[in-house]
Amino acid sequence: MARIVITSRLTPHAVDLLEATDHEVFYRDEPSPMPRAELLVAVATADALVSSLADRIDAELLANAPSLQVVANVAVGLDNIDLVHAAAQQIVICNTPGVLDAATADVAIFLMLAARRRTTDREAELREGRWQGWGIAENLALDLSGSVLGLIGYGRIAQAVARRARAFDMDVLHHTRHDTGEPGWVADVTELAGVVDVLSLHVPLTSETAGLISASVLGAMKSTAVVINTARGAVLDEEALAEALEKGKIFGAGLDVYQGEPSVNPRLLRAPHTVLLPHIGSATEGTRRAMCELALRSVLSVLAGELPENRVN
Ligand code: GLV
Repeated sequence: MARIVITSRLTPHAVDLLEATDHEVFYRDEPSPMPRAELLVAVATADALVSSLADRIDAELLANAPSLQVVANVAVGLDNIDLVHAAAQQIVICNTPGVLDAATADVAIFLMLAARRRTTDREAELREGRWQGWGIAENLALDLSGSVLGLIGYGRIAQAVARRARAFDMDVLHHTRHDTGEPGWVADVTELAGVVDVLSLHVPLTSETAGLISASVLGAMKSTAVVINTARGAVLDEEALAEALEKGKIFGAGLDVYQGEPSVNPRLLRAPHTVLLPHIGSATEGTRRAMCELALRSVLSVLAGELPENRVN
């Protein structure tokens, strides 16, 4: 019998999957991240950990987890996990790829539409009683249809965004480090940034992608372009983005992710023409249920001596 630690609340009924197991389950049924001190105590006797992206699974924690066999992160991103130390300890790391592509791509398209049409500003005017009525030359913004989209990264989520964007008659370009061999591949990030109307980020956060969208990349963008981030906050230089927005160097931004979540850079909170969401890319009932079930199944299969397909090491 193994001990499974679930660090925070899963979707309703997800834990029912564990009802038939003989394993001991410690389920922390709280929405907030597990306090660090509690997490360190909990992992000391854990064989399996079901974590959220708010749990820092770092070298200190792994060193404190002598019997840990598997970590299943209920997220596709793994930047909260020290993969090198996990591999050294032969701990299997799993994530939840595939099941969240559609929901996240939908949010990226929503942010593109909202940023191009400046709906956040318009809605605020209406709610504050400042709407003066329909006017031919009022509230003009920019089309999404017919614009050029640049995807940074071309994994499953980016490709789901590309499919949706084509339905909006957008031309779709993409950048990855290695040539995808597909039409629309651009070798250089700055060159791509300079020709698109919408730049949308879909890379994992790694030491190579941190700060990838730098002041100079933002500086290459058209003054009518928007930046969309549904990946990780730190892929983007937030100070440089705030500066570009404040100075009107780009048209707007749509963000779902931030560097120091849950706190948000105050300059971004004040920056004009921004649409800000609280990291809800995968937050639909169906998607989160699928993520939780995939994570729990991964844990059960590793504990049964199998290697699940969604392991990353
Ligand atoms: C959410 O951001 C995820 O990585 O799944």
